[in-house]
Amino acid sequence: MSGFLKHVLASVAVLVSAVGLRGEKSTPLSALDLDCVVHVRSRIAPPPKPGQSVSGSPISIGGRKFADGFGMHGISRLQIEMDGRATRFTAWTGLTDDSPDPGPVWYEILGDGRMLYEGEPIKRGDAAREVDLDISGIRTLVLVVHSPDYFNVHTAWAAARIAYEGETPRAVIPPREKPYILTPPSPREPRINGAAVFGVRPGSPVLFQVAATGDRPMRFAAENMPSGLALDAATGRFSGKIARPGKYSVLVSASNALGKAAREITFVVGDTLALTPPMGWNSWNCFADHVTAEDVRTTADLFMKHGLPNHGWSYINIDDFWMTRPPPDDALWEKLAGRAIERGYAPLKVPGADDLPRLASPARDSEGRINANPRFADMQGLVDHVHSLGLKIGIYSSPGPLTCGRCTGSFGHEEQDARRFAEWGFDLLKYDWCSYRFFVPPYDRISKEELQRPFIVMHEALAKQPRDIVFSMCQYGLGDSWEWGADVGANLWRTTRDIIDTWSSMSGIGFSQSELAQYAGPGHWNDPDIMVIGHVGWHAARRASRLTPDEQYTHVSLWSLLAAPLLIGCDLTRLDDFTLNLITNDEVIAVNQDPLGRAARRVSRDRNLEVWARPLADGSVAVGLFNRGELPARVTTRWDNLGIHGARVVRDLWRQRDLGSFEGEFSAEVARHGVVFVKLYKFGKTMDKNKQGE
Ligand code: GAL
Repeated sequence: MSGFLKHVLASVAVLVSAVGLRGEKSTPLSALDLDCVVHVRSRIAPPPKPGQSVSGSPISIGGRKFADGFGMHGISRLQIEMDGRATRFTAWTGLTDDSPDPGPVWYEILGDGRMLYEGEPIKRGDAAREVDLDISGIRTLVLVVHSPDYFNVHTAWAAARIAYEGETPRAVIPPREKPYILTPPSPREPRINGAAVFGVRPGSPVLFQVAATGDRPMRFAAENMPSGLALDAATGRFSGKIARPGKYSVLVSASNALGKAAREITFVVGDTLALTPPMGWNSWNCFADHVTAEDVRTTADLFMKHGLPNHGWSYINIDDFWMTRPPPDDALWEKLAGRAIERGYAPLKVPGADDLPRLASPARDSEGRINANPRFADMQGLVDHVHSLGLKIGIYSSPGPLTCGRCTGSFGHEEQDARRFAEWGFDLLKYDWCSYRFFVPPYDRISKEELQRPFIVMHEALAKQPRDIVFSMCQYGLGDSWEWGADVGANLWRTTRDIIDTWSSMSGIGFSQSELAQYAGPGHWNDPDIMVIGHVGWHAARRASRLTPDEQYTHVSLWSLLAAPLLIGCDLTRLDDFTLNLITNDEVIAVNQDPLGRAARRVSRDRNLEVWARPLADGSVAVGLFNRGELPARVTTRWDNLGIHGARVVRDLWRQRDLGSFEGEFSAEVARHGVVFVKLYKFGKTMDKNKQGE
């Protein structure tokens, strides 16, 4: 909102302020700086508008209309600073009648770190609920709407006012919290980390880097290698081809001047790729539409510099904008615009001439092979460089003629594009629905077959290629795609709309995945989107993630529990120690990469406190004790919810420290929006997989 407009609104607010008996003033909440409202798309989408719900309609709750107030999307928070001389807070609360999801949600109001109001759950259609609070003496007021199960809820603070005697209350963005590091440094002795199982098709090139921390130089060796497989003793990279299907367990060792570690790694030669969730980087969350080959190359080099492959990080994925964009006079625009209108979509945005110079060049060559845009002039060189580092590389396309960024998609060229991607040497394809929507009936009428078709076509094309290409389906969960993603050959599928770096977006997505756990497993994973840690911001607004340090621990712990693909989306040229600590904790990563591949579910919930757990291959259980509330709280996990009996050693995974032996239950103090992430294992079973040879 422009400063001028804010000023006008504030003046109007003062004019309309009721003057109380004791000379009190009052301000509508809607006159404060609504840019400070943190909700799903805050500070990316425009701020909430006074008098409107988030979808822009007048505010209506349970059929009752309110002239004043503002709407929010999903989980929301607004912090207001006062001088201690405010007296009353009054408002009407509830879901606006245009909310796509039904709720329930609950409202909470905190004053100076104390709970002042704890609302009961409220659903769409319920009558608006009144809040009337004495806030005398309070300096910091925090207004929160929790949406524990739903992402797409619209709520409002309707007719909300603060009465005060001193200075006008101010909405603020809370100051950044100080990061703190929990991950201990890796030992100098060799330790083998990451995936212990790797899927490859018969005869496809093997590209597998043993993840090992410890001082370099390190020597790698392997026993029981199947014929065709080779190991580079200096780098720990497996290569070659295994012709015969089967399971080959290879005993891998890593030695340096200080010691030796050994661990079994199983090559499963068959039809299934991605036996553990892919781990890597994707260009979208930081470089977005400005990505260049140089950014990708630099990221790969920084993976090596920071030793990320030693922890299992292996994919460097180029997202949208590596290909060309049809010029504004291309006939395709007109054709698609017509289809968009027929189907009731917003008019298609034709890129302006300014967008073109950097991306211009024919979409395809004379034989129809897709071209990269001039920013990726030497795609082959880039792929070869990434491979030379022992890393894998991913690419992006759409089943539609245009990607979401309105660049060239694969429509009608699926076989050809699959072949091109394989020739270049790509190892993963993210295939994003985008303009394909113009070729199918509207979503309320589309059949499952129509949703599946484009992915089947591309999967079949990929399956014909002489190299393995992990297939990442992206259509945001349309038609409950987790139920059939594996049937159409996807190795991972997005379960939600795009994530951004707000607590609302990340926690709204992450904590809504419990029911989906049953669909995840080796070779097929739910993908709740790229993690929003580190320096992100979709090019235009690059910044350190707006998640607090505790929220980021929650993020990585939850994604590990969910068996989600671990993709980072940050600018590695600005990697800080805190982010590095988040992505190099081998015990946390081991939960994500556990070969059993069972995703976590929520096992208990008490309002804002949740416990999520997943069983691990060695018989232990990984448990996340989460506090989604605004105040620190004690969270308890009970054995009967976890299906275990007897004594268990509880190990803090972030600190990599045993906390002692517990029976029946374990409790911990958990920070606001934070987590205590533990593993429960039977005494005598060492944590160190290297020694167990598991
Ligand atoms: C979106 C997708 C994002 C990103 C973007 C590129 O549809 O969800 O992850 O790929 O398109 O334009």
